Amino acid sequence: MNNFTYDIGTRIHFGRDALDYIGKEAKKYSDKILLTYGGGSIKKNGVYDKAIKELEDAGIEVFELSGIQPNPRIDSVREGVRIIKENKIGAILAVGGGSTIDAAKFMAAGACADFDPWEFISEGKPMSPAIPLLTVLTMAATGSEMDCGGVITNPETKEKLSSGHADTRPKVSFLNPELTYTVPKFQTAAGSADILSHIFETYFNIDGTMFMLDRIMEALMKTVIKYGPIALKDPENYEARANLMWASSWAINDFISDSSKAAWTVHPIEHELSAFYDITHGLGLAILTPRWMEYCLSEKTVHKYVDLGVNVFDLDKEGDPMEIARQTIEKVREFFFEDLGLDSNLRKIGIDEEHFEEMSIKACGKAGVKKGFIDLKPSDVKKIYQMCLED
Ligand code: NZQ
Ligand code: ZN
Repeated sequence: MNNFTYDIGTRIHFGRDALDYIGKEAKKYSDKILLTYGGGSIKKNGVYDKAIKELEDAGIEVFELSGIQPNPRIDSVREGVRIIKENKIGAILAVGGGSTIDAAKFMAAGACADFDPWEFISEGKPMSPAIPLLTVLTMAATGSEMDCGGVITNPETKEKLSSGHADTRPKVSFLNPELTYTVPKFQTAAGSADILSHIFETYFNIDGTMFMLDRIMEALMKTVIKYGPIALKDPENYEARANLMWASSWAINDFISDSSKAAWTVHPIEHELSAFYDITHGLGLAILTPRWMEYCLSEKTVHKYVDLGVNVFDLDKEGDPMEIARQTIEKVREFFFEDLGLDSNLRKIGIDEEHFEEMSIKACGKAGVKKGFIDLKPSDVKKIYQMCLED
């Protein structure tokens, strides 16, 4: 277990009345707020009207930027920064899923910078300082409501990359599970896959473990496995939506990961798929994860698969560890492709081998190797992509 500093600086208002706190909280940060959101789902389900009312009742002047796309683009960030600078806006309220919140993180930092916001990525410039960010979460998936990072796409260069800073972690997030009742089935499934993947990225770590955190991660995984399918069948099941929403935040808010220095590997591999094909992040993760698990399985790593199988999927702990590991992978497949009903291979979503070579090199970055559960070179990543072509 590594040394760490624990500092999760996001205030959470959780529950049916969460949005009632928007005005009071936002007023602490600024009299001028940029309200940013996506393609309009918040106008259909009443969240927009509620947010506007709360802000205006608090005497806050509201500016708006809509149209943040899934896999958000750097151009949206540039537009947000322009509005903030022109109007001397002091804080942002992002209302939506991970895409809207991520874009807002880059806007928050861009507002304080005198250079193009893509340089946070291309030049690795720190996303600090940043103006305060508040969020209203409308779907459970990325955990962006409580973490520092954001992922942004540059369609011109076909790059989708992440950055972040403690200053871009939301100051306040308003989490009302009822807002997720209208999330389409496919996005509910993809979001559940994303939450599970965030936990896997930390759980699959052989550089030392912390018993307490491993057991907490298993509880979080059980939560997603139990409630993802319930939310699909019964979208207005408050208990299911609430458990998924809170699990999404805790999967990635640094609590489970601060003591581990494990680098994430499946995510960077997936980000290439979304960058090249603009697919939904959680779907890409679902297709990749079981193949990545198969690829990483060895005598050295098998104990993690056994823990997962026995403690999360209730497999019998007696028997050959390799056989238990294979059953565990089968359970993961069943969860993604049967319980959540996600497409099970890349061909089904129209992806073939054409860009695998380039994507594999990009996924490994400048270092030429993705260090993680097991270190992966471009040739390894390419094999994993190839494994995703067939069931
Ligand atoms: O744009 P609107 O109209 O809001 O519709 C969205 C969008 O079409 C819709 N939606 C969201 N809430 C809804 C709803 N529709 C009806 N009712 C609601 N209540 O869902 C669609 C997808 O939204 P999006 O924000 O793209 O989904 P998600 O939350 O999965 O975010 C995905 C993005 O986050 C990045 C992903 O790579 C991807 O770009 N990630 C961010 C992370 C982070 N900040 O830490 C970590 C993740 O691993 C991930 O990489
Ligand atoms: Zn993710």
